[in-house]
Amino acid sequence: MTALSVQNLSVQTEDHRALVSDVSFELPAGQRLGIIGESGSGKSLTALAVLGLLPSGLRASGSIRLGNTELVGASARTLNGVRGSGIAAVFQEPLTALDPLMRIGEQLAWPLSHHRGLRGDALQRAIIEALAAVALPNPEKIARSYIHEVSGGQRQRVAIALALACNPDILIADEPTTALDISVQAEILDLLDGAVRERGMSLLLISHDLAVVSQMTEQLLVLRGGEGIEQGPTRQLLTTPEAEYTRLLVNTARSLEAYLPEVSALPKAPVPLDDPARADDPAQSPGNPPGHANPNTNPVENQA
Ligand SMILES: Nc1ncnc2c1ncn2[C@@H]1O[C@H](COP(=O)(O)OP(=O)(O)OP(=O)(O)O)[C@@H](O)[C@H]1O
Ligand SMILES: [Mg+2]
Repeated sequence: MTALSVQNLSVQTEDHRALVSDVSFELPAGQRLGIIGESGSGKSLTALAVLGLLPSGLRASGSIRLGNTELVGASARTLNGVRGSGIAAVFQEPLTALDPLMRIGEQLAWPLSHHRGLRGDALQRAIIEALAAVALPNPEKIARSYIHEVSGGQRQRVAIALALACNPDILIADEPTTALDISVQAEILDLLDGAVRERGMSLLLISHDLAVVSQMTEQLLVLRGGEGIEQGPTRQLLTTPEAEYTRLLVNTARSLEAYLPEVSALPKAPVPLDDPARADDPAQSPGNPPGHANPNTNPVENQA
């Protein structure tokens, strides 16, 4: 069964400039589709069109069907119903989805009470369970915290908990790990991978990172300049791409990968002995780029 069917999707500006042109793809129930392409190729606009969340001034045409519901031209009421129960999204920047003025527990309360009819103690338990399910340490404390009181990795976990609280059939993840520290990226991908598998959701994963889509998806769509260039099984597309552009993307990723061991083999820069302040300050150690405070000073335990 097809969970999501996008046919001839175009996104235009008010002056009829096409930002996405005639893009088609299908996402069968329980499957995982990756969208790749260079910056500005229309990945996010495609996702936002599916969510009915295009910025004002942009208009979608074509067809986006979620089961039997047509989303292009649908009423705000239909789209509101779909967002949150049919489709939920996780974005690159978790703050997009989170309210800085509400405690994290309060933010989870709405979808949990709305979708599962929970109240009182049952709702409180569900909030803690939702935070524990995304492997947040000390979920009771996190529920009482504001979003600025937790680390970047923890914020993304909260955003994922919020998306999952709606029990969606389809999860759209737009560069969900790009803004995170490299050590946290794999943990968040594992979390998404497990959640999608356990809940039998379909996943639409947008990433510029070919290693990520190769690990996480079964099918791949390549966009360039708002147009679909190529699509097919992920493994096949990354090993024997047909389009010249896909070949270029794959070759660039491979040459960067080949370069990595050389970089990590470089000797670490020694801390200058004549600058004791630098040697003592963990924010200045070679592991922390300049301007980054010691992450362990975070008010809530700094586990991602
Ligand atoms: N609100 C807008 N008004 C006009 N043009 C826009 C608007 N939003 C995006 N665009 C343009 O549409 C094109 C596609 O943007 P989109 O955000 O989908 O790219 P992307 O593939 O997600 O890129 P990235 O990898 O950098 O996130 C870009 O050229 C962008 O500048
Ligand atoms: Mg984008």
